[in-house]
Amino acid sequence: MGQSILLGVSGGIAAYKSVDLVRRLRENAHTVRVVMTQAAQSFVTPLTFQAVSGYPVGCDLLDAESEAAMDHISLARFAEKIIIAPASADVIARLAQGMANDLLTAICLATTAPIAIVPAMNHRMWHNPITQANVAKLQQFGYAVWGPDEGTQACGEYGLGRMLEPEAIVTHIENKNSVTPLHRKTIVITAGPTREPLDPVRFISNRSSGKMGYALAAAAAQSGAKVILISGPTALAPPKNVQLISIETATQMYETVMQQIPQCDIFIGAAAVADFRPTTAAPQKSSKNEFSSTLSLTANPDIIRAVAQFTPKPLTIGFAAETHDVKLHAMRKWENKGLDAIIANQVGLAEGGFDSDVNSVELYSAEGMVQFPRQSKIELAHHLIEWISNYYGKQTKDSIKNIG
Ligand code: PMT
Repeated sequence: MGQSILLGVSGGIAAYKSVDLVRRLRENAHTVRVVMTQAAQSFVTPLTFQAVSGYPVGCDLLDAESEAAMDHISLARFAEKIIIAPASADVIARLAQGMANDLLTAICLATTAPIAIVPAMNHRMWHNPITQANVAKLQQFGYAVWGPDEGTQACGEYGLGRMLEPEAIVTHIENKNSVTPLHRKTIVITAGPTREPLDPVRFISNRSSGKMGYALAAAAAQSGAKVILISGPTALAPPKNVQLISIETATQMYETVMQQIPQCDIFIGAAAVADFRPTTAAPQKSSKNEFSSTLSLTANPDIIRAVAQFTPKPLTIGFAAETHDVKLHAMRKWENKGLDAIIANQVGLAEGGFDSDVNSVELYSAEGMVQFPRQSKIELAHHLIEWISNYYGKQTKDSIKNIG
């Protein structure tokens, strides 16, 4: 069925390819409205896009005439999907800053539609850490990033930065959320630390920031899954298209998870759950004299173990955060907790693991070990979700075969 697609075109030589993209989308019965940045108009004229789309092209945020006919709010409402192709380093930077200083960026702020960027720029601009940080930030807010391709660039240099071909963009638009085995599957993810109160103002906790779990939630949502993120206290914004349930203690996390498990297809335990809580939490702030030198602790429920024992069992994937003998400890947890796979990360080093933007992990499953080298947690989350999607797809095929 045709969709209402808003195509944003920003400044770059690849803008000429977007004319063909509009033609192909219309052939597939989509309605396409085009919005151009000022820089884009130096490469292709609005009249060209008007001719291929069959609609006037939006160019100005403050144009009284066009604002009356189809203002940025109406265009934001019109769009079922927003695709920005080409997405220049400049428009990516402005979007990452939440700017609304032209029609395209204002629409992106005002819309609730999913947004995909299709980057196109010189390979050094693409690899610049500022651009990478901007892209990572957009991904964290639920933007999909398609490409870029590697090849000879308009400037004559070779590298990563070419815009995907229109055919590949159309494939993404048509298939992105329908072909992955995660489409419409329910994934429950735990993230962040838990807080175990000693009294109303003090608690026992750990250094988890939630970054790993939130990145997994965003990546899973982009793969078409329905994602429920059950999180301890963090400073992070909720990822787009994810249902966030906030809790504080391990007991609350356990109860919330178990409520969701009957509808859950895949469970990922990325939270750093406190294994113990103070046996009693004082109802009022204790003075330092009231603390004894020994603290009585009670074991918290093992959430992921309970999930793995549930019938029907969701695909259950845990994390192991270890400072030493990483493989040994991870394999033990994998076995003892009855998991389908465990993702082991070394913690306690200067970088990686808790509260870091990067991580490197080893994933153990019945298929053996897969290594994911050091990368941003956002990139890593996409790779892990891709692995989980393939593994889940194979498992469901096997279970259909077994029934047959
Ligand atoms: O949040 P970040 O700052 O981004 O850091 C990410 C991370 C290091 C927290 C994450 O990658 C990670 O490793 N999470 C698991 C941390 C941990 O402490 O694991 P564990 O070895 O204690 O527990 C093993 C598994 O059992 C985990 O999946 C955990 O969620 C789960 N568990 C543990 C105890 C418990 N009572 N219930 C559980 O479900």
